[in-house]
Amino acid sequence: GQGTDLAGRHVVVSAGGTREPLDPVRFLGNRSSGKQGYALARTAVARGARVTLVAANSELPDPAGVDVVRVGTAVQMREAVLKAAAAADAVVMAAAVADFRPASYASGKIKKRDGQDPEPVVLVRNPDILAELSADRPRPGQIVVGFAAETDDVLANGRAKLARKGCDLLVVNEVGERKTFGAERSEAVVLAPDGSETPVPYGPKEGLADIVWNLVTERLS
Ligand code: C5P
Repeated sequence: GQGTDLAGRHVVVSAGGTREPLDPVRFLGNRSSGKQGYALARTAVARGARVTLVAANSELPDPAGVDVVRVGTAVQMREAVLKAAAAADAVVMAAAVADFRPASYASGKIKKRDGQDPEPVVLVRNPDILAELSADRPRPGQIVVGFAAETDDVLANGRAKLARKGCDLLVVNEVGERKTFGAERSEAVVLAPDGSETPVPYGPKEGLADIVWNLVTERLS
């Protein structure tokens, strides 16, 4: 094992998927289970880190020894991540954050009416937490890690996203039938701005988590 190479470090991990409400009973959401983020939190604790897990709508139980902050929307996640990041050595954004949210929230349930077409749903952009954090690090030397799920041109799209977001590492997951969303296992490549590619073979999400912490640890020292 990696022993306690994260002892004395504080890391922040985001997990799950944000839900953007339309009215009191409906939301726009995604299929993220939170499993990858929770695996990152557990493995960081096992390696000695102090861990803050910002969890959006995950049904998983709080991992032992982790400070869990529960949020619902992207705006709430931004607030919680930025607050925790102020004292963090590394931030790993494993959450699936909605890119857009409904422009307005109906305080009463939206009704269907006979003979009337539905109102279109107007969306506005959410803040990009990863890009914001990468551009404006609250601590010098802080390591910022993003995740990306791609279905095709995985490496090319990953490279472009790494450059666009400005983070130190980007974990690119290939989305597939038994991989990534809600699955126990995943397969990935970790990209760095120096051009390096670290392949992560198909396997449990803890394996990917340990590889991410290895790469973070190298960059911290
Ligand atoms: O742009 P895209 O959603 O593909 O990027 C994925 C990465 O960016 C993830 O690490 C996710 O947590 C982060 N992200 C974010 N804020 C957003 C959208 C994505 O931090 N609004």
